Amino acid sequence: MDRRGFVKICAGSAALALGGLGREVLAGDYETFPPARLTDRQGNPLKAGAIPAGEAMVFSYPLAGVPCFLVNLGERPASAGIALKNDEGGYTWTGGVGPGGRIVAFVAICTHQLSYPQPEISYLRYAAAGSEIAGGPGKIVCCAHASVFDPAAGAQVVSGPATMPLLPVRLAHDASTDELAADGIMGMAFIQRFFKTYRADLNRRYGPGGYRREVGKATACVPLSQYSGIVPAC
Ligand code: FES
Repeated sequence: MDRRGFVKICAGSAALALGGLGREVLAGDYETFPPARLTDRQGNPLKAGAIPAGEAMVFSYPLAGVPCFLVNLGERPASAGIALKNDEGGYTWTGGVGPGGRIVAFVAICTHQLSYPQPEISYLRYAAAGSEIAGGPGKIVCCAHASVFDPAAGAQVVSGPATMPLLPVRLAHDASTDELAADGIMGMAFIQRFFKTYRADLNRRYGPGGYRREVGKATACVPLSQYSGIVPAC
């Protein structure tokens, strides 16, 4: 994917038209990609109110081989205006979208050593009720080497060997229909590193180069427990 084909914008600068969806933007520099409506497995629009609070849902965006987590924070509201930093620079994360700002999304690739959800197994999961290493409820944990991220705080690192937050995915929410779309991502250099590391695995799964295909106008969200055969608890 040639990143020159995409427009880099300041996401906090303006409300933009998005295929009929009103946009609630996060601050920071996002690379804008064609918007993709979030749907269920049957292709029906996914309503924010139907997203389970007990586990993450997995969807691909903006390219087929980029797994993302969609998380309903439940009663734990997102903290807005958090200054964060990844290996491309600093940015401000301004919270979630939807009712109560409870819906957030991040790239589901651990920033430590790139563990990610696969059909066979996912060491990365949203531990809604807490876990042995989470230190409290509502954290994203990576059982590969025990990194913990807080999705209510921009997925910043809570503990473990990871030093960088999970990459944020920009969402739009239409309050009139309760539908959601993804339309931007931060940290494509990190994604390229992930592609390089797992090229052989991704080619096997998606066909040669298929992991770089744009997802198109819609992308299906699947509960992690259905996406991956084994999801270890840690
Ligand atoms: S790959 Fe996630 S903690 Fe090491």
